[in-house]
Amino acid sequence: MTRLASLLLLAIAWTPSPVLSATSASLIAAGQHVIWSYPGLTPPQSLYTAISAGQVAGVIFFKENIGTNIASIVTSLKNANVNSPTKLPLLLMTDQEGGQVRRLSGAPVLSAKDMCASGTAASGGTGAGENLKSVGMNLNLAPVLDVYRKAGDFEDQFERSFSNDPAKVSSCGADFISAQQATGVAASAKHFPGLGAAAAGENTDVQPVTLDLSVSEIQNVDELPYIAAIAAGVKLVMPSWAVYPSIDASRPSGLSSTFHFTELRGRLGFEGVTISDAIEAGALQAYGSHANRAILATGAGMDLILAAARDVNQGAGIVTALANGLDNGTIDKKAFDRSTARIAALRSSLS
Ligand SMILES: *[C@@H]1O[C@H](CO)[C@@H](O)[C@H](O)[C@H]1NC(C)=O
Repeated sequence: MTRLASLLLLAIAWTPSPVLSATSASLIAAGQHVIWSYPGLTPPQSLYTAISAGQVAGVIFFKENIGTNIASIVTSLKNANVNSPTKLPLLLMTDQEGGQVRRLSGAPVLSAKDMCASGTAASGGTGAGENLKSVGMNLNLAPVLDVYRKAGDFEDQFERSFSNDPAKVSSCGADFISAQQATGVAASAKHFPGLGAAAAGENTDVQPVTLDLSVSEIQNVDELPYIAAIAAGVKLVMPSWAVYPSIDASRPSGLSSTFHFTELRGRLGFEGVTISDAIEAGALQAYGSHANRAILATGAGMDLILAAARDVNQGAGIVTALANGLDNGTIDKKAFDRSTARIAALRSSLS
């Protein structure tokens, strides 16, 4: 063999195989499904790099991330996205429910309970939307549509529930959603089908929670406010991490295809985007690593995975796992592409 021929053979051997290029495409496809988070006041360079590479659907901000320069941080993240492969706007979100659950100072000052009781849920929604917009964010992980049961229970202890009357939660929730979304900020109804029956200590962030309710109570009390929210055009729904044995005894709602497809998209006709609660939640301790939980949630029909541990490596690890799952067939590509299209439509509708 001539020296030239062997060089040519080497060059052919070194040409990236289709498997490698599929993996890089898969990383971008997977990234469209993951919301990242970071510690402290300044995003690490690795987050900007991942955004530019198209591996970030959005970022969630917590109180520890929000200083006086939050608006310029948000602008810098948007700038990193300008030349990303998808060029779709990032989903930039926080929990601005009202009262004690607010990451930004300012509106809504009243708790959900006080807004609903005083007939001001619509102005609360407008205030939340304008507040997020003023710092460049475009998605609020609110309102809570959980129908609390007893004074001081899980949702009532911080007045996060509009009311213990499902009809009032319906009307206040829909008012908040319509008003907030009119400002250009997407709303997320949570935590489907409802955490209103949880006792004060039953916190899915910390531990597994089982809510033993009849199908009729779940559908007629807890899920009732979703009818009005969906009619109002709510853009996102966040499933809960509680288990509801009467509907699916084997999986928490967010890991259950029965809840995603039979209840939310089937019975209630929701066509928007689902976003997970924090993937690191203690409720999921039986389901392995954060990456494994993300694969299970995606398989059940979850559109967006919330990597909320304030650790860029968590987001990166989940993107890699989803990309591997796409490449090796663990994730159903057709269902994943439909989900990607829903997320892209949401991102295109925001700025
Ligand atoms: C496919 O990839 C997923 C995600 O990384 C992994 O959990 C699974 O074990 C892989 N399956 C095979 C057969 O290697």
